[in-house]
Amino acid sequence: MQNFDYQTPTRLIFGENVIEKLPGVMAAIGRKVLLTYGGGSIKKIGLYDKVKELLKDFEITELPGIQPNPRYDPSVLDGVRLCKENRIEVILSVGGGSVLDCSKAIAAGACYDGDPWDLISYKVKAKSALPVVDIITLAATGSEYDSGGVISRTETNDKIGYIDPLLFPVCSFLDPRYTFTVSRKQTAAGCADAMNHILEQYFCEDATLMNDGFCESGLKSLMINGKACLENPEDYRARAEMMFACTLACNGILSLGNSDSGWPMHGIEHALSGYYDITHGEGLAIITPRWMRHILSERTLGRFVKYGVNVFGIDASLPEEEIADKAIDATYAFFESIGIPMHLRQLGIDESRIDEMARHIAVNEGLENAYVPLSEQDIKEILIASL
Ligand code: NZQ
Ligand code: ZN
Repeated sequence: MQNFDYQTPTRLIFGENVIEKLPGVMAAIGRKVLLTYGGGSIKKIGLYDKVKELLKDFEITELPGIQPNPRYDPSVLDGVRLCKENRIEVILSVGGGSVLDCSKAIAAGACYDGDPWDLISYKVKAKSALPVVDIITLAATGSEYDSGGVISRTETNDKIGYIDPLLFPVCSFLDPRYTFTVSRKQTAAGCADAMNHILEQYFCEDATLMNDGFCESGLKSLMINGKACLENPEDYRARAEMMFACTLACNGILSLGNSDSGWPMHGIEHALSGYYDITHGEGLAIITPRWMRHILSERTLGRFVKYGVNVFGIDASLPEEEIADKAIDATYAFFESIGIPMHLRQLGIDESRIDEMARHIAVNEGLENAYVPLSEQDIKEILIASL
Protein backbone atom coordinates (compact mmCIF):
# COMPACT_ATOMS: atom_id res chain seq x y z
CA MET A 1 0.00 0.00 0.00
CA GLN A 2 1.29 3.45 -0.98
CA ASN A 3 1.58 6.53 1.24
CA PHE A 4 -0.99 9.25 0.74
CA ASP A 5 -1.88 12.74 1.90
CA TYR A 6 -5.58 13.37 1.37
CA GLN A 7 -7.98 16.21 2.00
CA THR A 8 -11.18 17.21 0.23
CA PRO A 9 -12.41 20.55 1.55
CA THR A 10 -15.61 20.57 -0.55
CA ARG A 11 -18.97 20.60 1.23
CA LEU A 12 -21.52 18.45 -0.61
CA ILE A 13 -25.21 19.31 -0.23
CA PHE A 14 -27.23 16.57 -1.88
CA GLY A 15 -30.92 15.94 -2.55
CA GLU A 16 -34.24 17.38 -3.60
CA ASN A 17 -34.66 21.16 -3.14
CA VAL A 18 -31.25 21.58 -1.52
CA ILE A 19 -30.64 24.84 -3.38
CA GLU A 20 -32.91 26.55 -0.87
CA LYS A 21 -29.69 26.63 1.19
CA LEU A 22 -27.85 28.57 -1.53
CA PRO A 23 -28.32 32.12 -0.11
CA GLY A 24 -26.98 31.09 3.29
CA VAL A 25 -23.94 29.37 1.83
CA MET A 26 -23.19 32.27 -0.53
CA ALA A 27 -23.68 34.99 2.08
CA ALA A 28 -20.94 33.49 4.21
CA ILE A 29 -18.51 33.81 1.29
CA GLY A 30 -19.29 37.02 -0.58
CA ARG A 31 -21.94 39.30 -2.09
CA LYS A 32 -20.32 40.07 -5.44
CA VAL A 33 -20.99 37.03 -7.57
CA LEU A 34 -19.90 35.92 -11.03
CA LEU A 35 -22.69 33.62 -12.26
CA THR A 36 -21.33 31.28 -14.94
CA TYR A 37 -23.41 29.02 -17.19
CA GLY A 38 -23.53 27.32 -20.56
CA GLY A 39 -25.68 27.53 -23.65
CA GLY A 40 -29.09 27.83 -22.04
CA SER A 41 -30.07 24.49 -20.50
CA ILE A 42 -30.35 26.09 -17.06
CA LYS A 43 -32.90 28.55 -18.42
CA LYS A 44 -34.99 25.76 -19.95
CA ILE A 45 -35.19 23.87 -16.66
CA GLY A 46 -36.10 26.95 -14.62
CA LEU A 47 -32.89 26.86 -12.61
CA TYR A 48 -31.64 30.23 -13.84
CA ASP A 49 -34.80 31.99 -12.60
CA LYS A 50 -34.67 30.10 -9.34
CA VAL A 51 -31.04 31.12 -8.70
CA LYS A 52 -31.78 34.77 -9.56
CA GLU A 53 -34.71 34.75 -7.16
CA LEU A 54 -32.70 33.13 -4.36
CA LEU A 55 -29.83 35.58 -4.86
CA LYS A 56 -31.91 38.74 -5.34
CA ASP A 57 -29.94 40.53 -2.60
CA PHE A 58 -26.59 39.76 -4.20
CA GLU A 59 -24.70 41.74 -6.82
CA ILE A 60 -24.54 39.45 -9.86
CA THR A 61 -22.39 39.66 -12.99
CA GLU A 62 -23.04 36.99 -15.61
CA LEU A 63 -20.79 34.95 -17.89
CA PRO A 64 -23.07 32.90 -20.18
CA GLY A 65 -22.23 30.74 -23.20
CA ILE A 66 -19.52 28.46 -21.79
CA GLN A 67 -19.26 25.62 -24.31
CA PRO A 68 -18.70 21.90 -23.81
CA ASN A 69 -14.91 21.35 -23.86
CA PRO A 70 -14.63 24.88 -22.43
CA ARG A 71 -12.38 27.31 -24.23
CA TYR A 72 -9.57 29.36 -22.84
CA ASP A 73 -10.43 32.03 -25.37
CA PRO A 74 -12.98 33.53 -24.97
CA SER A 75 -14.54 31.95 -21.84
CA VAL A 76 -11.66 31.80 -19.34
CA LEU A 77 -10.27 35.15 -20.48
CA ASP A 78 -13.69 36.86 -20.38
CA GLY A 79 -14.38 35.43 -16.92
CA VAL A 80 -11.05 36.62 -15.54
CA ARG A 81 -11.65 40.10 -16.95
CA LEU A 82 -15.17 40.25 -15.46
CA CYS A 83 -13.86 39.16 -12.06
CA LYS A 84 -11.19 41.83 -12.04
CA GLU A 85 -13.45 44.62 -13.38
CA ASN A 86 -16.24 43.86 -10.92
CA ARG A 87 -14.16 42.87 -7.89
CA ILE A 88 -15.91 39.53 -7.78
CA GLU A 89 -15.79 37.72 -4.42
CA VAL A 90 -17.25 34.33 -5.36
CA ILE A 91 -18.00 32.41 -8.55
CA LEU A 92 -21.27 30.48 -8.82
CA SER A 93 -21.14 27.85 -11.55
CA VAL A 94 -24.52 26.52 -12.68
CA GLY A 95 -24.36 23.73 -15.26
CA GLY A 96 -22.32 20.69 -16.25
CA GLY A 97 -18.65 19.89 -15.85
CA SER A 98 -17.60 22.25 -18.62
CA VAL A 99 -19.07 25.30 -16.89
CA LEU A 100 -17.52 24.26 -13.59
CA ASP A 101 -14.09 23.51 -15.09
CA CYS A 102 -14.06 26.88 -16.79
CA SER A 103 -15.11 28.55 -13.53
CA LYS A 104 -12.23 26.92 -11.68
CA ALA A 105 -9.71 28.24 -14.22
CA ILE A 106 -11.30 31.69 -13.97
CA ALA A 107 -11.07 31.51 -10.17
CA ALA A 108 -7.30 31.00 -10.36
CA GLY A 109 -6.79 33.46 -13.23
CA ALA A 110 -8.67 36.19 -11.36
CA CYS A 111 -6.04 36.17 -8.60
CA TYR A 112 -3.07 36.25 -10.97
CA ASP A 113 -1.58 39.29 -12.72
CA GLY A 114 -0.13 37.53 -15.76
CA ASP A 115 -1.61 35.45 -18.58
CA PRO A 116 -3.89 32.78 -17.01
CA TRP A 117 -2.47 30.22 -19.44
CA ASP A 118 0.73 30.32 -17.34
CA LEU A 119 -1.29 28.66 -14.56
CA ILE A 120 -3.21 26.17 -16.71
CA SER A 121 -0.02 25.06 -18.45
CA TYR A 122 1.78 24.69 -15.09
CA LYS A 123 4.38 27.35 -15.95
CA VAL A 124 3.43 29.20 -12.77
CA LYS A 125 1.84 27.81 -9.60
CA ALA A 126 -1.22 29.78 -8.46
CA LYS A 127 -0.90 31.37 -5.03
CA SER A 128 -4.63 31.78 -4.51
CA ALA A 129 -8.00 31.42 -6.23
CA LEU A 130 -11.47 32.88 -5.77
CA PRO A 131 -13.93 30.57 -4.01
CA VAL A 132 -16.18 28.57 -6.33
CA VAL A 133 -19.66 27.30 -5.46
CA ASP A 134 -21.52 25.13 -7.95
CA ILE A 135 -24.90 23.70 -8.78
CA ILE A 136 -24.06 20.70 -10.94
CA THR A 137 -26.71 19.73 -13.52
CA LEU A 138 -25.08 16.77 -15.25
CA ALA A 139 -23.79 13.60 -13.62
CA ALA A 140 -20.47 12.78 -15.25
CA THR A 141 -17.15 14.42 -14.54
CA GLY A 142 -17.08 14.60 -10.75
CA SER A 143 -15.70 18.14 -11.09
CA GLU A 144 -18.03 19.08 -8.22
CA TYR A 145 -15.84 17.06 -5.84
CA ASP A 146 -12.38 17.34 -7.33
CA SER A 147 -9.64 19.89 -7.81
CA GLY A 148 -9.36 19.70 -11.60
CA GLY A 149 -10.59 21.66 -14.56
CA VAL A 150 -10.04 20.70 -18.18
CA ILE A 151 -9.49 23.61 -20.55
CA SER A 152 -9.16 23.62 -24.35
CA ARG A 153 -7.10 25.96 -26.46
CA THR A 154 -8.24 25.49 -30.03
CA GLU A 155 -5.38 27.11 -31.90
CA THR A 156 -2.86 24.62 -30.46
CA ASN A 157 -5.25 21.62 -30.08
CA ASP A 158 -4.35 21.60 -26.39
CA LYS A 159 -6.77 20.19 -23.86
CA ILE A 160 -5.14 20.38 -20.46
CA GLY A 161 -6.29 18.94 -17.17
CA TYR A 162 -5.40 21.74 -14.77
CA ILE A 163 -5.20 20.31 -11.25
CA ASP A 164 -4.50 22.26 -8.07
CA PRO A 165 -5.91 21.86 -4.53
CA LEU A 166 -6.91 25.54 -4.74
CA LEU A 167 -9.55 24.54 -7.31
CA PHE A 168 -11.74 22.38 -5.06
CA PRO A 169 -15.21 23.95 -4.96
CA VAL A 170 -16.08 25.36 -1.56
CA CYS A 171 -19.55 23.88 -1.80
CA SER A 172 -21.39 21.78 -4.41
CA PHE A 173 -25.17 21.53 -4.62
CA LEU A 174 -26.42 18.27 -6.12
CA ASP A 175 -30.14 17.99 -6.79
CA PRO A 176 -30.75 14.90 -8.97
CA ARG A 177 -33.98 16.44 -10.31
CA TYR A 178 -31.92 18.94 -12.30
CA THR A 179 -30.47 16.05 -14.27
CA PHE A 180 -33.88 14.74 -15.48
CA THR A 181 -33.53 16.76 -18.70
CA VAL A 182 -30.02 15.58 -19.62
CA SER A 183 -30.24 14.08 -23.12
CA ARG A 184 -29.78 10.37 -23.84
CA LYS A 185 -26.45 11.11 -25.48
CA GLN A 186 -25.10 13.08 -22.53
CA THR A 187 -26.51 10.62 -19.97
CA ALA A 188 -24.72 7.74 -21.68
CA ALA A 189 -21.53 9.75 -22.11
CA GLY A 190 -21.63 10.76 -18.45
CA CYS A 191 -22.03 7.14 -17.41
CA ALA A 192 -19.07 6.11 -19.58
CA ASP A 193 -16.94 8.98 -18.27
CA ALA A 194 -17.52 8.07 -14.63
CA MET A 195 -16.98 4.36 -15.33
CA ASN A 196 -13.73 5.25 -16.98
CA HIS A 197 -12.66 7.33 -13.98
CA ILE A 198 -13.07 4.21 -11.89
CA LEU A 199 -11.30 1.96 -14.41
CA GLU A 200 -8.36 4.38 -14.49
CA GLN A 201 -7.98 3.77 -10.74
CA TYR A 202 -8.77 0.05 -10.78
CA PHE A 203 -6.18 -0.93 -13.39
CA CYS A 204 -2.99 -0.20 -11.48
CA GLU A 205 0.00 -2.08 -10.13
CA ASP A 206 -0.73 -1.94 -6.41
CA ALA A 207 -4.36 -1.96 -5.24
CA THR A 208 -6.03 -2.82 -1.95
CA LEU A 209 -8.91 -5.19 -1.44
CA MET A 210 -10.91 -2.32 -0.01
CA ASN A 211 -10.38 -0.06 -3.01
CA ASP A 212 -11.15 -2.88 -5.41
CA GLY A 213 -14.48 -3.33 -3.63
CA PHE A 214 -15.29 0.40 -3.89
CA CYS A 215 -14.40 0.40 -7.56
CA GLU A 216 -16.28 -2.76 -8.43
CA SER A 217 -19.47 -1.59 -6.74
CA GLY A 218 -19.09 1.86 -8.31
CA LEU A 219 -18.91 0.27 -11.75
CA LYS A 220 -21.94 -1.92 -11.09
CA SER A 221 -23.91 1.02 -9.73
CA LEU A 222 -23.11 3.11 -12.80
CA MET A 223 -24.09 0.35 -15.22
CA ILE A 224 -27.39 -0.42 -13.50
CA ASN A 225 -28.38 3.17 -12.80
CA GLY A 226 -27.07 4.51 -16.10
CA LYS A 227 -29.40 2.12 -17.92
CA ALA A 228 -32.29 2.96 -15.62
CA CYS A 229 -31.81 6.70 -16.30
CA LEU A 230 -31.99 6.03 -20.03
CA GLU A 231 -35.13 3.93 -19.67
CA ASN A 232 -36.86 6.52 -17.50
CA PRO A 233 -35.11 9.91 -17.41
CA GLU A 234 -37.25 10.98 -14.44
CA ASP A 235 -36.40 8.00 -12.23
CA TYR A 236 -35.27 9.95 -9.16
CA ARG A 237 -33.60 7.01 -7.46
CA ALA A 238 -31.54 6.12 -10.51
CA ARG A 239 -30.57 9.73 -11.27
CA ALA A 240 -29.64 10.20 -7.61
CA GLU A 241 -27.42 7.14 -7.36
CA MET A 242 -25.79 7.91 -10.68
CA MET A 243 -25.06 11.44 -9.50
CA PHE A 244 -23.56 10.16 -6.26
CA ALA A 245 -21.41 7.57 -8.05
CA CYS A 246 -20.13 10.17 -10.54
CA THR A 247 -19.26 12.54 -7.69
CA LEU A 248 -17.17 9.94 -5.90
CA ALA A 249 -15.59 8.47 -9.02
CA CYS A 250 -13.10 11.24 -9.84
CA ASN A 251 -12.06 12.50 -6.44
CA GLY A 252 -9.33 9.97 -5.75
CA ILE A 253 -11.06 8.58 -2.68
CA LEU A 254 -11.67 5.24 -4.44
CA SER A 255 -7.97 4.59 -4.79
CA LEU A 256 -6.27 6.05 -1.72
CA GLY A 257 -3.16 3.96 -1.10
CA ASN A 258 -3.17 2.50 -4.62
CA SER A 259 -0.34 3.18 -7.02
CA ASP A 260 -1.09 5.84 -9.66
CA SER A 261 -2.04 4.39 -13.03
CA GLY A 262 -1.20 7.59 -14.94
CA TRP A 263 -4.79 7.73 -16.30
CA PRO A 264 -3.79 6.58 -19.81
CA MET A 265 -7.24 6.54 -21.39
CA HIS A 266 -7.83 10.14 -20.35
CA GLY A 267 -4.43 11.08 -21.75
CA ILE A 268 -5.49 9.68 -25.11
CA GLU A 269 -9.05 11.04 -25.06
CA HIS A 270 -8.09 14.58 -24.19
CA ALA A 271 -6.20 14.77 -27.47
CA LEU A 272 -9.22 13.41 -29.37
CA SER A 273 -11.53 16.07 -27.96
CA GLY A 274 -8.74 18.67 -28.25
CA TYR A 275 -8.37 17.98 -31.97
CA TYR A 276 -11.96 17.11 -32.89
CA ASP A 277 -14.16 18.67 -30.16
CA ILE A 278 -15.96 15.37 -29.51
CA THR A 279 -17.92 14.48 -26.37
CA HIS A 280 -15.40 13.33 -23.74
CA GLY A 281 -17.36 10.31 -22.44
CA GLU A 282 -17.96 8.98 -25.96
CA GLY A 283 -14.28 9.21 -26.80
CA LEU A 284 -13.43 7.34 -23.62
CA ALA A 285 -15.97 4.58 -24.26
CA ILE A 286 -14.40 3.98 -27.68
CA ILE A 287 -10.83 3.97 -26.37
CA THR A 288 -11.50 1.80 -23.30
CA PRO A 289 -11.89 -1.72 -24.79
CA ARG A 290 -9.11 -1.05 -27.33
CA TRP A 291 -6.75 0.06 -24.58
CA MET A 292 -7.73 -3.02 -22.56
CA ARG A 293 -6.92 -5.36 -25.44
CA HIS A 294 -3.64 -3.55 -26.02
CA ILE A 295 -2.40 -3.92 -22.45
CA LEU A 296 -3.68 -7.45 -21.80
CA SER A 297 -0.64 -9.61 -21.06
CA GLU A 298 0.59 -12.16 -18.57
CA ARG A 299 1.43 -9.28 -16.23
CA THR A 300 -2.03 -7.67 -16.33
CA LEU A 301 -4.12 -10.83 -16.66
CA GLY A 302 -4.94 -11.04 -12.95
CA ARG A 303 -6.58 -7.61 -12.93
CA PHE A 304 -8.75 -8.49 -15.91
CA VAL A 305 -9.81 -11.76 -14.29
CA LYS A 306 -10.82 -9.98 -11.09
CA TYR A 307 -12.68 -7.32 -13.10
CA GLY A 308 -14.50 -9.92 -15.20
CA VAL A 309 -15.57 -12.08 -12.27
CA ASN A 310 -16.50 -9.33 -9.78
CA VAL A 311 -18.02 -6.74 -12.11
CA PHE A 312 -19.63 -8.86 -14.84
CA GLY A 313 -20.16 -12.10 -12.93
CA ILE A 314 -18.16 -14.17 -15.42
CA ASP A 315 -17.71 -17.80 -14.34
CA ALA A 316 -14.51 -17.90 -12.25
CA SER A 317 -13.84 -21.53 -13.20
CA LEU A 318 -13.16 -20.64 -16.86
CA PRO A 319 -9.56 -20.37 -18.08
CA GLU A 320 -8.11 -16.98 -17.10
CA GLU A 321 -7.50 -15.86 -20.70
CA GLU A 322 -11.13 -16.58 -21.53
CA ILE A 323 -12.38 -14.59 -18.53
CA ALA A 324 -10.22 -11.60 -19.57
CA ASP A 325 -11.45 -11.84 -23.13
CA LYS A 326 -15.08 -11.97 -22.05
CA ALA A 327 -14.56 -9.05 -19.67
CA ILE A 328 -13.27 -6.84 -22.47
CA ASP A 329 -16.13 -7.91 -24.74
CA ALA A 330 -18.62 -7.18 -21.94
CA THR A 331 -17.16 -3.68 -21.49
CA TYR A 332 -17.62 -2.98 -25.21
CA ALA A 333 -21.12 -4.48 -25.21
CA PHE A 334 -22.23 -2.34 -22.27
CA PHE A 335 -21.16 0.92 -23.91
CA GLU A 336 -22.82 -0.17 -27.16
CA SER A 337 -26.01 -1.10 -25.28
CA ILE A 338 -26.38 2.45 -23.94
CA GLY A 339 -26.21 3.84 -27.45
CA ILE A 340 -22.63 5.08 -27.66
CA PRO A 341 -21.14 5.03 -31.18
CA MET A 342 -18.20 2.67 -30.72
CA HIS A 343 -15.97 3.76 -33.62
CA LEU A 344 -14.06 7.02 -33.98
CA ARG A 345 -15.18 7.21 -37.60
CA GLN A 346 -18.77 7.59 -36.38
CA LEU A 347 -17.60 10.78 -34.64
CA GLY A 348 -15.98 12.08 -37.83
CA ILE A 349 -12.42 11.03 -36.98
CA ASP A 350 -10.38 9.26 -39.66
CA GLU A 351 -6.74 8.24 -39.99
CA SER A 352 -5.56 11.60 -41.35
CA ARG A 353 -4.36 13.05 -38.03
CA ILE A 354 -3.58 9.86 -36.10
CA ASP A 355 0.21 10.28 -36.39
CA GLU A 356 0.00 13.88 -35.25
CA MET A 357 -2.27 13.03 -32.31
CA ALA A 358 -0.13 10.08 -31.22
CA ARG A 359 2.91 12.36 -31.15
CA HIS A 360 1.02 15.08 -29.28
CA ILE A 361 -0.12 12.55 -26.65
CA ALA A 362 3.32 10.95 -26.32
CA VAL A 363 4.96 14.35 -25.80
CA ASN A 364 2.36 15.87 -23.47
CA GLU A 365 0.70 13.14 -21.40
CA GLY A 366 3.58 11.29 -19.76
CA LEU A 367 2.12 7.87 -20.63
CA GLU A 368 5.55 6.28 -20.62
CA ASN A 369 4.96 6.21 -16.84
CA ALA A 370 1.47 4.69 -17.01
CA TYR A 371 0.45 1.37 -15.37
CA VAL A 372 1.40 -0.25 -18.65
CA PRO A 373 3.81 2.24 -20.26
CA LEU A 374 2.60 3.50 -23.65
CA SER A 375 5.01 4.68 -26.35
CA GLU A 376 4.01 6.80 -29.33
CA GLN A 377 3.69 3.56 -31.33
CA ASP A 378 1.41 2.00 -28.68
CA ILE A 379 -0.81 5.09 -28.67
CA LYS A 380 -0.98 5.00 -32.45
CA GLU A 381 -2.03 1.34 -32.41
CA ILE A 382 -4.77 2.03 -29.86
CA LEU A 383 -6.06 4.94 -31.95
CA ILE A 384 -6.04 2.88 -35.14
CA ALA A 385 -7.86 0.02 -33.41
CA SER A 386 -10.47 2.57 -32.29
CA LEU A 387 -11.26 3.82 -35.80
O1 NZQ B 1 -24.38 24.35 -22.30
P1 NZQ B 1 -25.71 23.94 -21.76
O2 NZQ B 1 -26.85 24.60 -22.42
O3 NZQ B 1 -25.77 24.01 -20.26
O4 NZQ B 1 -25.91 22.38 -22.18
C1 NZQ B 1 -25.06 21.35 -21.72
C2 NZQ B 1 -24.09 20.87 -22.80
O5 NZQ B 1 -24.59 21.10 -24.08
C3 NZQ B 1 -25.92 20.13 -21.49
N1 NZQ B 1 -26.51 20.05 -20.15
C4 NZQ B 1 -25.90 20.21 -18.95
N2 NZQ B 1 -26.80 20.04 -17.96
C5 NZQ B 1 -28.01 19.78 -18.55
C6 NZQ B 1 -27.82 19.80 -19.94
N3 NZQ B 1 -28.83 19.59 -20.81
C7 NZQ B 1 -30.06 19.36 -20.29
N4 NZQ B 1 -30.32 19.30 -18.96
C8 NZQ B 1 -29.32 19.52 -18.07
N5 NZQ B 1 -29.57 19.44 -16.76
O6 NZQ B 1 -25.03 19.03 -21.66
C9 NZQ B 1 -24.03 19.36 -22.61
C10 NZQ B 1 -22.69 18.88 -22.13
O7 NZQ B 1 -22.30 19.57 -20.96
P2 NZQ B 1 -20.80 19.48 -20.38
O8 NZQ B 1 -20.73 20.35 -19.20
O9 NZQ B 1 -19.82 19.70 -21.48
O10 NZQ B 1 -20.72 17.92 -19.97
P3 NZQ B 1 -19.87 17.23 -18.85
O11 NZQ B 1 -20.39 17.52 -17.50
O12 NZQ B 1 -19.79 15.81 -19.26
O13 NZQ B 1 -18.42 17.91 -18.95
C11 NZQ B 1 -17.50 17.54 -19.93
C12 NZQ B 1 -16.19 18.30 -19.75
O14 NZQ B 1 -15.55 17.96 -18.51
C13 NZQ B 1 -14.21 17.54 -18.74
C14 NZQ B 1 -14.30 16.93 -20.11
O15 NZQ B 1 -13.04 16.78 -20.71
C15 NZQ B 1 -15.18 17.93 -20.84
O16 NZQ B 1 -14.45 19.07 -21.22
N6 NZQ B 1 -13.76 16.67 -17.64
C16 NZQ B 1 -13.59 17.22 -16.42
C17 NZQ B 1 -13.11 16.52 -15.35
C18 NZQ B 1 -12.89 17.12 -14.02
N7 NZQ B 1 -13.08 18.39 -13.83
O17 NZQ B 1 -12.52 16.44 -13.10
C19 NZQ B 1 -12.75 15.10 -15.46
C20 NZQ B 1 -13.26 14.46 -16.70
O18 NZQ B 1 -12.41 13.36 -16.96
C21 NZQ B 1 -13.35 15.32 -17.91
O19 NZQ B 1 -12.12 15.37 -18.61
ZN1 ZN C 1 -13.29 11.82 -17.70
